Amino acid sequence: ASSKLLIKGGTVVNAQHQEIADVYVEDGIIVAVKPNIRVGDDVTVLDATGKFVMPGGIDPHTHLDFEFMGTETVDDFFSGQAAALAGGTTMHIDFVIPVDGSLTAGFEAYEKKAKKSCMDYGFHMAITKWDETVSKEMELMVKEKGINSFKFFMAYKGALMINDDLLLEGFKKCKSLGALAMVHAENGDAVYEGQKRMIELGITGPEGHALSRPAVLEGEATARAIRLASFVNNPLYVVHVMSIDAMEEIAKARKEGQRVIGEPVVSGLVLDESWLWHPDFKTAARYVMSPPIRKRGHDKALQGALSTGVLQLVGTDHCAFNSTQKAFGIDDFRKIPNGVNGIEERMHLVWNTMVESGQISVTDYVRLTSTECARIFNVYPRKGAILAGSDADIIILNPNASFEITAKSHHSRLDANVYEGKKGKGKVEVTIAGGRIVWQNNELKVAPGTGRYIKMPPFSYLYDGIDKIDAAYLSSLQAPVNRAKSAS
Ligand code: URP
Ligand code: ZN
Ligand code: ZN
Ligand code: ZN
Repeated sequence: ASSKLLIKGGTVVNAQHQEIADVYVEDGIIVAVKPNIRVGDDVTVLDATGKFVMPGGIDPHTHLDFEFMGTETVDDFFSGQAAALAGGTTMHIDFVIPVDGSLTAGFEAYEKKAKKSCMDYGFHMAITKWDETVSKEMELMVKEKGINSFKFFMAYKGALMINDDLLLEGFKKCKSLGALAMVHAENGDAVYEGQKRMIELGITGPEGHALSRPAVLEGEATARAIRLASFVNNPLYVVHVMSIDAMEEIAKARKEGQRVIGEPVVSGLVLDESWLWHPDFKTAARYVMSPPIRKRGHDKALQGALSTGVLQLVGTDHCAFNSTQKAFGIDDFRKIPNGVNGIEERMHLVWNTMVESGQISVTDYVRLTSTECARIFNVYPRKGAILAGSDADIIILNPNASFEITAKSHHSRLDANVYEGKKGKGKVEVTIAGGRIVWQNNELKVAPGTGRYIKMPPFSYLYDGIDKIDAAYLSSLQAPVNRAKSAS
């Protein structure tokens, strides 16, 4: 196959601008973006007339080959990425989980898992305990391993959860390294209590999952993380914002000028809690994830927050468990492995829910699904843009064709799909990853080992001026108060 590619006559969309132009690609890199590019016969030509030519999606939140709750996700770095490519996503950032608290061992394990990759990927890293070694390893991860973000779990008590003391240590360490702190915001102690209460009441089914960890616990943890980040002058990234409660805390902090980023996920934008009450256990269990999918109304509010800029980018939290794995919790919802799919469906569902409905523009779509993620994790404009010099990660979306989601034809290894039956207008007809056509005519052409690890450098801009803010804060604390020393 030719390594030269011309995409002709489409509307090229970047986050700030769209225009009709051709895109010329050589050896995996975009070489030119302008009208009427002429080429020789050794170039593969794709006609994009009447279609949108956009940066491939970047999913900021996935869990491939993840060992969790006594089992392992069915999608690994090959099947999960193949699914992603079929849905127009060309890069994802996965969460490295430390092995027995060791970041180095965790990183090596994920390096191995990712060898079969067929698309580009980056890593965040979870921090699950705290000591001098972890602190030193964080430095190694940022300076040598290409990790610039760390996730702290405020939930999953007894497993991944950390307390406020560690959260503060972690925030400070992130700041000193120029890395971004991320939180899974739910009050883990209260969730634990809520779960016990449900079991005592005899509510053992999937609805107990929703009842045991209501939105108020997500709001509390989000508020707490935001305030602690403010206390140490740290920017903060809140992953999987699922509720109005959490979203409003983010809105308030941003209004006050605090640097908080909020990431809703597709399940929170398009599904509602009623699935957890489904009379069939198998169906209901499919929708168990944390924080839980909320009541109708939260979905619309999160969409609104995306359209107004309160929330900045969309992830999936793709974490795929089959019916047999979900069935571990047949007698106790606490044992249902948490997670839903989305890596393949995100681009279509965001298009349909946000653009097709008129809530956002096509340029906004590119920003929310690709560009903003590349900017936040410091790989823009190599990723997230259709510009000369950027990687050739490109999709062609036909706004007049339709998509329909079904487990019968999806590319994930899952035996079911939480978005089963959803359909609408706007279809990704072609996906180009690293200059290769990997998805065309509903056919995938992918090979293990073709994806690359994208190192994400630490930030400079994120912490610009923060030293001054810290100094002002400290001096305000140290302002002398003159008190008379007379004893009486
Ligand atoms: O239920 C979920 N979200 N599973 C994945 C782990 C996490 O908390 O992101
Ligand atoms: Zn594995
Ligand atoms: Zn989480
Ligand atoms: Zn997650």
